[in-house]
Amino acid sequence: MAPSRRLTRGLAQRWRRRWDLQQELHVPDRERRFRIMLLWLRAVAGSHPRCLDLGCGTGAVTQRVLENFPRARVVAVDCDPVTRRLGEVALARYGGRVTWVDADLRSPAWRRSIPPGRYDAALSSTALHWLRGPELARLYRDLARRVRPGGIFLNADGIAFDRRSRRLRKAETAVAAAAQARAPRARRGEGWTDWWEAIADEPALAEEMRVHRERFPHEHAGTPTPDLTGHVRRLRAAGFREVELVYSRRHSRVLAAVR
Ligand SMILES: C[S@@+](CC[C@H](N)C(=O)[O-])C[C@H]1O[C@@H](n2cnc3c(N)ncnc32)[C@H](O)[C@@H]1O
Repeated sequence: MAPSRRLTRGLAQRWRRRWDLQQELHVPDRERRFRIMLLWLRAVAGSHPRCLDLGCGTGAVTQRVLENFPRARVVAVDCDPVTRRLGEVALARYGGRVTWVDADLRSPAWRRSIPPGRYDAALSSTALHWLRGPELARLYRDLARRVRPGGIFLNADGIAFDRRSRRLRKAETAVAAAAQARAPRARRGEGWTDWWEAIADEPALAEEMRVHRERFPHEHAGTPTPDLTGHVRRLRAAGFREVELVYSRRHSRVLAAVR
């Protein structure tokens, strides 16, 4: 067995950097989406928001909020101990401005796991497509109770056009293929599965990996999640008053909703 070693900040940062690269392989406009989210966050919630980062992973959104809003505070929520631990160690310098919460967003118990009170914003990146329609509907109702009136929800994710928009969905595929043909050669590199295979051998995360295997016995292979209309309908039904797309590039979108 490999000797145990400590998860230092430097080691955590190296794994996070590899995480960012593999995420960018799957979501090439990821950084652009982050920038859009921060602009909308500032415009609606102001300069010192109290935020939730839902499905925070290694804390990509959390870090960008903390860096760009020196008086912001973030509660970062994820049920995966491996990625969350990387974020916790790498971002320890932010001290009490960030709180890491182990919770499953599919379970109603998640809302009791986060610190009480109202939040100015809830943000999420590439995470909520893991939830099915009824789970999202419940999550949105929970968010409507915890995001203050006038606060904002920003969801950056792959969100498909309405299932009934058959011609537009087909055209979107053709548009994407045409754009791809003109694009410089696709980047290659470590993907999602490669990253998980690599970190499984990291002795500093052996215990977190054991829990990860219990919680995620199967590789994530896609969840039947709502389309754009489904998100909008559920957000409005939950009590969000305004819901609009604020960024869209093929399936990659940012949906904003004001409470
Ligand atoms: C593709 S990663 C994105 C992580 C991060 N937001 C980013 O952009 O790098 C998706 C994250 O959502 C988390 N996630 C998926 N389903 C979840 C659930 N039901 N409850 C909490 N977290 C969940 C996963 O554990 C994973 O960390």
